[in-house]
Amino acid sequence: MSANSQTLFVQHFGKDSNRTLDYFLKNMNGYEQAKKTLTNLTPDQVIEEVKKANIRGRGGAGFPMGMKWSFIPKNSEKPKYLVCNADESEPGTCKDRQIMRYTPHVLIEGLIIGSYAIGCHHAYVYIRGEYVREAELLNAAIDEAYANGYLGKNIMGSTYTLDITVHRGAGAYICGEETGLLNSLEGKRGEPRVKPPFPAISGAFACPTAVNNVESIANVPHIMRMGGEEFAKLGKIDKSGGTRLISLSGHVSTPGVYEMQAGSMTLRQIIDEFGGGILNGKKLKAVIPGGSSSPVLTADEIDVVYDVEPLMKIGTMMGSAAIMVINEDTDMVKLLLRISKFYAHESCGQCTPCREGCHWMESILHKIIHGEAKSTDIDLLVDVAGNIGGKTLCALGDAAAMPVQSFVKKFRPEFEAYLKGQKRHG
Ligand SMILES: Cc1cc2nc3c(=O)[nH]c(=O)nc-3n(C[C@H](O)[C@H](O)[C@H](O)COP(=O)(O)O)c2cc1C
Repeated sequence: MSANSQTLFVQHFGKDSNRTLDYFLKNMNGYEQAKKTLTNLTPDQVIEEVKKANIRGRGGAGFPMGMKWSFIPKNSEKPKYLVCNADESEPGTCKDRQIMRYTPHVLIEGLIIGSYAIGCHHAYVYIRGEYVREAELLNAAIDEAYANGYLGKNIMGSTYTLDITVHRGAGAYICGEETGLLNSLEGKRGEPRVKPPFPAISGAFACPTAVNNVESIANVPHIMRMGGEEFAKLGKIDKSGGTRLISLSGHVSTPGVYEMQAGSMTLRQIIDEFGGGILNGKKLKAVIPGGSSSPVLTADEIDVVYDVEPLMKIGTMMGSAAIMVINEDTDMVKLLLRISKFYAHESCGQCTPCREGCHWMESILHKIIHGEAKSTDIDLLVDVAGNIGGKTLCALGDAAAMPVQSFVKKFRPEFEAYLKGQKRHG
């Protein structure tokens, strides 16, 4: 596929035998970059290389990774932590799972290099509770790494020491939010913290901490192998280096996890070339482009380059690069109710607008679908959403509000059809 000329990950997915140390050493230059880093480079040199790579965080917010690492204070006497966010809780997202299943050692090598760069000697992987098998596989790979001198004391003969602990979550979306995650890691309720202070200053156990997504960290060995500038060139858009893993789901013929050079394809190309077009030859109705919280697009809006800025320009976002494709038969009101139920269930309850508002939105949608709504309820729904977005400690509030606002804006006649009795729940 021309637009998808270079990939770093997907060629290693799909085969159980690929997850071994042996495979990693033979086929992925395994641990060579960690060795080079620990013996030849200073932490600052690593951070510079990552800055040059133009890699944005892959967890959703798209924050530049090198810059995040440079915020960790160098002269602090406190321990420093690298925490890998493997919660993968945004609906539609399933790419980090593939990395942990099939190339766990590339994540471990990324953790070694990243930990060295920020001065950390104990890294954590916070993995979602439902990923039972992935946690087992990751722990098995970590054991293998310890047994072969890639983790623990004096890694590969260097003076550097690193331990990694895998911490399993218990199935809460909010524990994907980095400060909710840190609280949970510390054994507290997974409630987001007031910021500032940001984790770089006061994160895990009140110490300087970098929280990075699995895919972000797994890219680090590739950055060091290629060099930051070459890695940056993989991206076809200024601020986005490297490749992007895409979780493609919904009404496409071939759903799955795919990879493209950042900014090299439009949404339409992704749906047609990766997804094999719309399932059973149906028509496209809508696309949720970046996980369930991202504002929905209509079928007319998909000739957009799939990257952060182009999506922002049309009022939506790339988020975790989870694309959900929706066909002409889908009832958008029912789909929104399903999404809203999720956010109402997952709100941690700490902030009033989110705790109360998410349930209101769910209940108004329920009334609309069951023919119990008043003519003013569509506007009330949008009003409630407007009173949640931007008014909470963390972005779960925005995540709940954005689908409501965009679904009503773009598919209002479907909501009105319920009010007019032209559509019925059934
Ligand atoms: C409600 C909520 C859920 C989130 N879930 C995840 C998640 O499952 N995985 C993830 O990497 N980031 C998630 N994030 C983003 C994290 O807060 C954070 O930005 C990210 O882990 C930073 O890593 P990165 O810079 O490598 O992207 C979530 C954010 C919010 C507000």
